[in-house]
Amino acid sequence: MVVGLKARSLQSITRTCLWSQESRNISVPPEPLAGLTRFDMMKRVDRGPEGTLTIDPARPGDAEWSARVMAGADPWITLGRTYEVCLSRLTRPGSDLYIAIRGGGRAGFILMDRFGVAGSPYIAAVACAAEARGQGVGSAMIEFAERLYPDARFIFLCVSSFNGKARRLYERLGYKLVGTLKDYIINGVDEHLMMKPLGDR
Ligand SMILES: CC(C)(COP(=O)(O)OP(=O)(O)OC[C@H]1O[C@@H](n2cnc3c(N)ncnc32)[C@H](O)[C@@H]1OP(=O)(O)O)[C@@H](O)C(=O)NCCC(=O)NCCS
Repeated sequence: MVVGLKARSLQSITRTCLWSQESRNISVPPEPLAGLTRFDMMKRVDRGPEGTLTIDPARPGDAEWSARVMAGADPWITLGRTYEVCLSRLTRPGSDLYIAIRGGGRAGFILMDRFGVAGSPYIAAVACAAEARGQGVGSAMIEFAERLYPDARFIFLCVSSFNGKARRLYERLGYKLVGTLKDYIINGVDEHLMMKPLGDR
């Protein structure tokens, strides 16, 4: 997969955001949500017939959409995360939510904690809309996260012990198991902490 991530001029970012606002056809404020203003990069990946994929900071309505995706999918169903719990996690101060847009609609989300694990970025949650899975959107969002903080040397995430498909994807993307949190969220399910070195940048 070829992933292009470029720092753009303010003018260029503004232009791209305007494009996103129009194509999403939803009401948005002129500025990104509070706390997301340090977002200064835009990623575009050519996805053939499905069109360009863009990853934007969350705007009004995005957290609620993400909470619906999250609460309606495993691992969160098995972990007992209701819509309200998911929404509370997605809007927690200190976490930054980004939305993958494709063909004018939302395709997925990724939630980032800038200093989540021992001062390094942590991918707190990532999911695609059910109809968008298995098409590279999740991989693109993870690669986006890896480029979001240019001075980070490591990045972390957790995967539930029953989520073998996601774990295989993370291993393929270069993540390695660094620890296991036994019975961490519910009894009988462990959380595997995985880390990827990002190198000296
Ligand atoms: C995990 C997830 C974010 C990956 O995004 P994606 O866009 O579907 O994945 P990609 O197309 O980039 O990569 C495809 C790989 O993802 C894996 N995958 C993991 N969970 C999947 C799911 N629920 N549906 C489809 N593919 C899934 C596929 O097995 C595939 O790997 P393979 O080629 O070895 O079979 C997405 O599938 C998803 O939202 N799953 C449900 C929620 C979830 O498990 N989130 C992760 C919590 S740690």
